Amino acid sequence: MPISRAIALLGMSLVAQANALGSPPDVQVCIACHGAKGEGTLQGPMLAGLSELYISAQIENFIAGRRSNAVMSAVAQGYSDVKLRNQVAGYFAGQGTTPTLHLRGEQIEPTLASQLYYQGDLGRDLPACYSCHGPSAIGTGPFPRLAGQQAAYLKEQLMAWKNRQRSGDPDDMMGNIARKLSTDEIDVLSGYLSGIR
Ligand code: HEC
Ligand code: HEC
Repeated sequence: MPISRAIALLGMSLVAQANALGSPPDVQVCIACHGAKGEGTLQGPMLAGLSELYISAQIENFIAGRRSNAVMSAVAQGYSDVKLRNQVAGYFAGQGTTPTLHLRGEQIEPTLASQLYYQGDLGRDLPACYSCHGPSAIGTGPFPRLAGQQAAYLKEQLMAWKNRQRSGDPDDMMGNIARKLSTDEIDVLSGYLSGIR
């Protein structure tokens, strides 16, 4: 079955469920993979906690080929209209976030991952992740939430930047960072961030 047909079927099978939840028609296709509140499913990462600005920019990145993913690139093509794009982005941004209990000042277990997150590595000119993604990794505006995101998804994104398969981030800032991280560091960081609830 061609992928677009598979997506259409998947979307349709969940429309009834989405209707019951009262979501606007344009987001019903998204819900099939990202969940009614953007909480993420096996088919797609969490969108909850991301800003409208960030979500809209990423859909544009998929359309322009700065990001590539078989399913998401296909879906994004239907959202080239800015108004429509901002509308679906606004829906997910407005769903609220799962709270995190991991707050500044809390005792943080000193692991390789937490050290990279809170201190970076001066020797490699690697900035601390927290300086942009925030002390609880919940992000803000153009800086996406990382806390509680699926580990496999986070790893894929960092590897995509490292291998120059994802771009569109301002000034290649994430590309510069990911290329300095080893695969092992990407592994532990992804697990660590995913575990922040
Ligand atoms: C058939 C499944 C599917 C559907 C339908 C779908 N997505 Fe996705 N989406 C994905 C997958 C898989 C990814 C991860 C892509 C990657 O690894 O690069 C993704 C990634 C994203 C991202 C990037 C998230 C981030 O943290 O950077 C955004 C934003 C997004 N989708 C928005 C949407 C919106 C809005 C819709 C509805 C218009 C939608 N998606 C419909 C599967 C889907
Ligand atoms: C200088 C600011 C800055 C620093 C420091 C930074 N990031 Fe980012 N990060 C960003 C921005 C901006 C984006 C969104 C990129 C885009 O718009 O495509 C991002 C996106 C990401 C994403 C993709 C999330 C998604 O939903 O697709 C991951 C994963 C990530 N950063 C991990 C890290 C890790 C791990 C570190 C520390 C090693 C780090 N970041 C340090 C600015 C930063």
